[in-house]
Amino acid sequence: MSLLLWRQLRDEGLARLRDAGVDDPEQELRWIIERATGRSPSEQVLALDEPASVREVRSYDDLVARRATGEPLQYVLGRWGFRTLDLLVDARVLIPRPETEVVAGLAIAEIEALGRSAVAVDLGTGSGAIALAVAAERWPHVEVWATDASPDALAVARANLAGLGRRASAIRLLEGDWYAALPDGLRGQVDVVVSNPPYVAASDVLPAEVAGWEPTAALVPGPTGLEHIEVIVAQAGEWLTPEGVLVVEIGETQARRVVDLAVAAGFASAEVHPDLAGRDRALVARR
Ligand SMILES: C[S@@+](CC[C@H](N)C(=O)[O-])C[C@H]1O[C@@H](n2cnc3c(N)ncnc32)[C@H](O)[C@@H]1O
Repeated sequence: MSLLLWRQLRDEGLARLRDAGVDDPEQELRWIIERATGRSPSEQVLALDEPASVREVRSYDDLVARRATGEPLQYVLGRWGFRTLDLLVDARVLIPRPETEVVAGLAIAEIEALGRSAVAVDLGTGSGAIALAVAAERWPHVEVWATDASPDALAVARANLAGLGRRASAIRLLEGDWYAALPDGLRGQVDVVVSNPPYVAASDVLPAEVAGWEPTAALVPGPTGLEHIEVIVAQAGEWLTPEGVLVVEIGETQARRVVDLAVAAGFASAEVHPDLAGRDRALVARR
């Protein structure tokens, strides 16, 4: 059996990803080779004329084949970065997005501004991205209650919690429908409620890589896209302290309607913050 050199494997992989229409095949292939071999991109360059082991070839071929069928890179790699974290992700959860890093940052800033220990709630935690970021960046000054209706998503969040070390003790994971998952004793005690709920309208057309692979229940709440945001905004007042803050990720066309919802729910102020691309992305409402 002739040995396969990494140079040849890399060129074949590049051709497969290019044929599949992947936007940046060079960059993606570096990450795929890193996942298959444990070699950093600079080590990969030095190893181009070295033979690959049978195990490496099998793992590499499998990852390239998955990516070439259109599976999102993040699921293929099985992990993705979110703020300071490296999270496990698979098809049971939404892939954490850069715009959600901004939303988490707004919640973290609110907690920091309190200047004391805080209670935070992350509704619809998915991979645990927001809850874990809050705990990682505000530990030991925060207690985070993270909920999701999907037991599958909570299993991923639990696995991510295991990688957080001592800071994981700040987080409780609970299954249930929005606020119904929380213990009654938290009513009126929460400093910050943060959520990235599903907010895509059923009629919106999503990219194939999103629609075909990510969980629909994490994306589309119903015909208008506002169905879950309405519940989260309307019930927040029962759980927040009198000075509490609600931070909710929204769709870029939903700003006016969510501000109206917040005013109707009795919030004294409601502003919308942009994401890194300048699109309306987060409601911040104060009681
Ligand atoms: C857009 S994803 C956000 C996931 C994660 N917070 C993030 O930002 O990457 C929405 C999450 O809400 C959860 N979800 C959907 N309906 C829910 C409900 N009725 N109650 C609680 N969580 C729900 C989904 O399972 C999903 O994990």
